[in-house]
Formats: sequence, C-alpha cells, structure tokens
Amino acid sequence: MAKAKTILGAAAIALLAIATNAQAAELAATAALKADQPGAPISRYVYGQFSEHLGAGVYDGVWVGPDSKIPNVRGIRSDVVGALKDLKVPVIRWPGGCFADEYRWRDGVGERSKRPSRKNNWWGGSPESNAFGTHEFMDFAEQVGADPYLSINVGSSDPTEMREWIEYMTSPGDDTLAQERRANGRDKPFKVPFIGIGNESWGCGGEMTPEYYANEYRRFSAFFHKNNDNPAVRVGSGANAFDTNWTDVVTKNAGRFMDAISLHYYTLPTGKWDKKGAATGFDKAAWGQTFAQTLRMEDLLTQHIAVLDKNDPDKRIGLFVDEWGTWYDVEPGTNPGHLYQLNTLRDGVLAAANFNIFHHHTDRVKMTNIAQTINVLQAMILTKGDQIVLTPTYYAFKMYTPFQDATAVPLEVQAPKITIGATTIPAFNASAAKGKDGKTYIGVANMSPDDSIKLSVSLGGLKARSVSGQLLTADKMDAFNAFGAKPVVAPVPYKGGRLVGDKLTLDIPAKSVVVVAVE
Ligand code: AHR
Repeated sequence: MAKAKTILGAAAIALLAIATNAQAAELAATAALKADQPGAPISRYVYGQFSEHLGAGVYDGVWVGPDSKIPNVRGIRSDVVGALKDLKVPVIRWPGGCFADEYRWRDGVGERSKRPSRKNNWWGGSPESNAFGTHEFMDFAEQVGADPYLSINVGSSDPTEMREWIEYMTSPGDDTLAQERRANGRDKPFKVPFIGIGNESWGCGGEMTPEYYANEYRRFSAFFHKNNDNPAVRVGSGANAFDTNWTDVVTKNAGRFMDAISLHYYTLPTGKWDKKGAATGFDKAAWGQTFAQTLRMEDLLTQHIAVLDKNDPDKRIGLFVDEWGTWYDVEPGTNPGHLYQLNTLRDGVLAAANFNIFHHHTDRVKMTNIAQTINVLQAMILTKGDQIVLTPTYYAFKMYTPFQDATAVPLEVQAPKITIGATTIPAFNASAAKGKDGKTYIGVANMSPDDSIKLSVSLGGLKARSVSGQLLTADKMDAFNAFGAKPVVAPVPYKGGRLVGDKLTLDIPAKSVVVVAVE
C-alpha cells in the first residue's frame, strides 16, 4: 500500500511539473552589436547608492558605534564596508531624502555624547541620536572608497546654513569653521564632489511650485561659492516621475546655475501608493506588472531628456536619477515608517533591466542612486544583529561592475513580447559596452518568468575568440537570500554562450540576469 502511494505520488508530481511548465517556451530573438559605433561613456556614478537616516539604513546598517561587539572601524561596521568595496560603489548620497530637508549639520558634529537627540519626523518619529554626522559619513565613504554626495537642507533652512556647512567641510584656511573641523578631528578639508540643493522640493522638501523652487535655487546658488575650495557639482532638485513641467520650468529659470538636475522614480508593482504590492509571495501577474512599471524608466528618461535637450542643447546639465528602485508594502510586523522590505530574484532582474535602460541614455544620465543601500527599500544589504545578507540586487550590481566607466556600444535588440496576465512586456532587455579592460560586455535581463531565450547576436565586425560570464537566477521568482543560510540567489559561471563565426549565441534561462565578456 505504501509503495502504491509512492508511485501515485510520483505520477502526480510529474503531471504537476508538466502542467507548471506548460507555458514555458524557448523564445528566439536577435540583436545586432554596432561595435564600430561607440557611444558615450557610462559614468561609474550610474552605479551609485543612496543612504538616508531612515529605519535601520544608517543606525545598525552602517553605524554600530566604536564600542559594539560587531566588528567595526571607528563605529562603522566592517562587514558592510567590505561588501560595498567589492561592489566598487562610486558614490553615496546622504543624509536624505526627506530627512535632508530637516537635517541641521551642526547637530552631527563635535563630541558625540553632547549631540542633541531629535525626532525623525519623516520616518516613524524614531529618535535620531546624531551619532552619525558629517565626520562619520565621510569616514564611511572613505572606507568604502566612494565619493560623497550631500543633500543640503533647502526646505527648512537658509543659504547661510548651507554656506557654513560647505565651508566647515572644505575650507583649507584658518577661518573659525575650518579650525572647528580640525578640532573635531579632520585636518585636511573633505572632498565633496557632489552637492544636491534640496530634495523633492515639490513634496517633502518644501511643497514648492517649480517657479518658486527655481527662485530658491538661484538664491541658494548665489551663496554656494563654487571655486577651488568647493568645486562640487551643483544638483538641482528634480522632478517627481513624469512631471516634465518641473524639469522645464526649473532648468529654464535656473539651469544656468546648475550642473545637474535630479529625477526620482520608484517601481510600485500596482502603481498605487496605498497598496503597492508584496515583496515576496507574489504571483506571475504581479511579476509582470512590476516589470511593466519599471520599464517606464525608458520613456521617463526619454521625456525628461527631450526637455533638457530643448533648454540645454549643449548637454552641460547632467540628469541624475538619484532615487530609483522598488517600493513594496513593508515587511509584515516591521515599523511601517522604516520601509524595510525583502529582496528577491525579481529585484535582481529588475535592477539589471534598469541598468540596461540607463546605458541607453549615458550622454545625459551621469549618475543614478538606488534607494537604498542597507535595510531600506531595494537594498543591497540586509542586517540583523551581527549578521548580514547580500541580496539579489547586490549581486546584479556586482555582475554589472565592468560597465563602470566603460563605453556604451549600441546593441539593437528585437525582443519578442510576452503577455503575463493582463500585462504585455518585452521578454528581455539588454545593453553592451566596451570595458576599460578592452573586453566587450553584454548584459541581458530576461524578464519572462517562464521562457528561456535563444539570443543570436551579430557582432558587427568584432573579432571574438571567447565568451565567458555570470548568471543570476533561481528556481522560484521570489527566491531570496535568508539570514544564516547559504544564498540561493547568487551568481554562478555562465555556460550558455557560443561563438560561431561573427555570431554569438546566448541561451538565457527564464527569470535571469546574464552578463558576458566577449574577447
Ligand atoms: O527613499 C525614501 C524616500 O523617498 C526619500 O526620503 C524621498 O526623497 C522619497 O520620497
């Protein structure tokens, strides 16, 4: 009887497997590499990060304090620094986000035990100890090897506070602010290559109209004193998603005083803020909707770039997508104001799909900053006590590191369309670049949950002898790496590439990221 049950069980499993795979197919697709038509460089800053004082993004995520049992250097956790160094993080934006427009830099300098405690009004009303301030952030960025990108308080502050913070950080002289910095432990001026003048000034940063913000920006920039001490790129607070009027009015009225303007776009599976969708346990329909939402990034960039091309035809003003990524309903049982969410294979594939889009616009898109580095939204790293987990998004960033400072190479792709529930999207997107090491890199995000792709790439004159790469996938769409367990979503060597004459064939598994080097 027991045996009969086993046989029956095995048959049922086989039938189920056939039913589950019923929709799976291998899709044929082609792409043409224009190896002889190199495009604009892909700035390494396209692979930037954003770390806000929000939930456990900074406290626990970065800062544990010098007395912690968790291994740290001057209070900054060493496991996190090590993981971010491996990602070659080029830039970190700080201290917010919405937090930045209530932040007072003086709260975060000087003797730590004497710093005031404040209420973090934007993020759960949590106490802000100010233990992590300017010096601690600069130390963190230096340990990681990243450039700092500071967001200045415009909404609830004034140009004097901005000017004094900049002087405190960058003055090489004997003025009182420089002396104060030295007394606080830093002799040499800090290097501050990027400064954002306001954040979401249309919303949490002051509820301004674009006309009003453009005037405010001009007022602040008059006291910014861009010079040898402070050569920072000045970043205007940019639009919310598809609000091209903001980009238009702000760059028309204040563009000549700015070097870059930002843009924020978050991927919500449902597209609705009141019920965004779950980070795990989602179905294929939600997978499809999520990719449909994220692929809007292509159209979004095209629309804002068209406005910039009109107001800044010389392409002097960079477009910085300094907040992007997935935003789900918070993990059940966690503080809703702390925006903690898990991160699955879907996030890894989605990150790669966005990289491919950014690579299509590198003559204007000079920086992006995913929200956020640790424990918040689409994080690279999750922490729990002394443990860390590297997420699928972390690994997507890692696989794409050869694209940093590479030269974009056009890759014309014919991608079949797939329909998932009520959503139709291209099965995959891709991009290519010539790396600093001379190899040609191709990155592919297969957004089909079911279908593998046989991609035939004509190499357009590129003489190639070998292909090797890495693959990120998993059995389940919502697979995630858990604390204390072997990662189930991590890159493995990719064996699906073949070169025949001037053609490269790539067998791309369903729901995966593939990055190959061709040489
Ligand atoms: O990243 C979380 C928040 O999203 C930021 O603080 C804000 O700028 C945006 O609305």
